[in-house]
This record gives sequence, structure tokens and C-alpha cells, in this order.
Amino acid sequence: MEPQYTSLVQILKEKLDTCKTENELLKIKADFLGKNGLITKEFANIRDALDKKYTGQQLNLLKTQAETLIKDSLSKILNSQIYDNAIDVSLPGRNISNGTRHPISLTINNISNIFRGYGFRIEQGNEIETEFYNFEALNIPPNHPARDMHDTFYIDTKKLLRTHTSSVQIHSMMRTGAPIKIIAPGKVYRCDSDPTHSPMFHQLEGLYIDKEINFCHLKGILEKFIADYFQKRIETRFRPSYFPFTEPSAELDIKFRGEWLEVLGCGMVHDNVLKNVGINTKQYSGFAFGLGIERFAMLKFDIRDLRSFYENDMSFLKQFRGLS
Ligand code: PHE
Repeated sequence: MEPQYTSLVQILKEKLDTCKTENELLKIKADFLGKNGLITKEFANIRDALDKKYTGQQLNLLKTQAETLIKDSLSKILNSQIYDNAIDVSLPGRNISNGTRHPISLTINNISNIFRGYGFRIEQGNEIETEFYNFEALNIPPNHPARDMHDTFYIDTKKLLRTHTSSVQIHSMMRTGAPIKIIAPGKVYRCDSDPTHSPMFHQLEGLYIDKEINFCHLKGILEKFIADYFQKRIETRFRPSYFPFTEPSAELDIKFRGEWLEVLGCGMVHDNVLKNVGINTKQYSGFAFGLGIERFAMLKFDIRDLRSFYENDMSFLKQFRGLS
């Protein structure tokens, strides 16, 4: 191309390089290709040229090149506007993050499902109880320390927050009589608060009353439950204990990391309790147990501090994602 045309292209390129907006670009286009544009003017000079045909060809080349450069710049500017102002449809969508089940709920579901497999029905109870259901009917004498204001949250002289799920035993037996085979998970309350005790925690009660139910059934079912829950063979031992509502009573210990750990209370339902709910003790007998959900969750998930369950710390809770 003729040197003066090449330098025109050079000038155009420099202008386009610094051009940022569509309006600026249209101005540049007019300066070069408009009615009085630099290139347009060159066309007017053809008539003075020595070789009109050659000059004409050269000018057409120049014009096409200028048009291409301008067009490219325009699409560059328009593209950058899309990124600046408009929605980028290629961006991935925003995630809706689903909640995760709380480890306490996971443990309640897990344990409930195991007992459902043994034919236990799930029973719901009340968190607010009377002394009758929480103590009296369960053969807990009036002077028993658990009845003390220091141990129990009283709402008024008659009502209290249940201190254990054993109160559900009474409701269920009074409602349906024997035979009965239920579990009852839920919240319980005690005036207690330190690193290993929370004023609210969770228990799961079990009750099985039928003809000829004896201590062997109690041992068999609870040993099977421990194996099913931990999904491995675990050494267990039944240690004699005392609860007013069971006779005999025992505590179940499991061997965990080389140490004996107490995991639940149990026993054969006391005759007085059966009589209190009108069940014939000559015909029926049975066992009951109560376990702490937090303790079972801590052992399964290797959680060392009870308080982690109640702090709503997302980084703690998210670890249970995907478990059911
Ligand atoms: N209610 C007892 C407790 O809270 C546990 C238990 C339930 C013991 C049923 C025996 C039978 O410690």
C-alpha cells in the first residue's frame, strides 16, 4: 500500500486502541469514512492522480481495511459492555444450601429405627408433666431427692418439666393397658449445668410388657441393640442398680476404648407401677429402660464436649451432612 495510506491506517489504529465507548468510535468512523472524512477526501483526489486505476485500487484497499478495523473495535466494545452491564448467563447458579440433620435427631432416628425393627412402636409424650406421671405413679416416694427443687424445674406446685421419659410409660400403660411394646424419645429437664450436664437433654424410654417377659428378654434385646447401634461386637455388663420403678434394676455398661462406660438404666417394671396403672401383675410382667441420646451420639461420632450439641456452630453441624 502507498506509504501515505499506510500511515493513515496507523493513525486509525492508534485512535481505535484508545477508544473506549461506542460514541467515541462513531466519531472516529466519521473522521475517517464520513462525508468529510480523511479517507473520503482521498477519493476526491483520484482525479489528480497520475495512475487513476492504481490509486483507486489502493484507496479501496485502504477503505476496506479501515472498515474492518472499525467493525472489530465496535464488536470489542459491545462485548465488553455485556460483561460490564448485563447478566452473564454463563455464570453457574447460586446454590441453595440445604440444612443438615442435627446429630441428636440423627441419633434419635437411628435408635428408633433399630427398636422399630424389634417390633417397638414409637410413642410421643409431654414435656410438661404433673408430679403423678413423673414421680408418684412411678413409685418414687415423696421424700426422694429427685423431687427436690434443686433437681427438678417446677412450673407451679402441680406442674413440672419432666425429669425423664419414664413418665411416658405411665401415659401409655393407662391408655392401652397390656400388652405393650413402645419406645418414647424426647427432651427431659434437670437443674444441672456443667461441661457434662445440660439442663435440657434427650432420652429414649423403652417399655415391653407382655405375658412371661423376664430378665432374659431385657438382656437379649439390649445386647442386640448395642451390637446393632455400634455395628460391631461390644462387651457389655449388667451391673445391679436401683430405680424406684424397676425391681430388679440394673445399669448397662459397655467396654469402650478399654473402659467400662455406663450407657443406660433398666430393670423389670416394679409391681407397684403395674398396679398403679391397673395392669394385672399375675398375668403380665415386663421390662423398661431409659438411655441418654447425647451419650450415644457422643460415643458414635466421637464428640468430647456435650455443649457442642447446643451451640449451633455451623462448622460443627455441617460435619453431619449426608447422614440419615
Ligand atoms: N428414668 C431413668 C433415668 O432417667 C432411667 C430408667 C428408665 C431406668 C427405665 C430404669 C427403667 O435415669
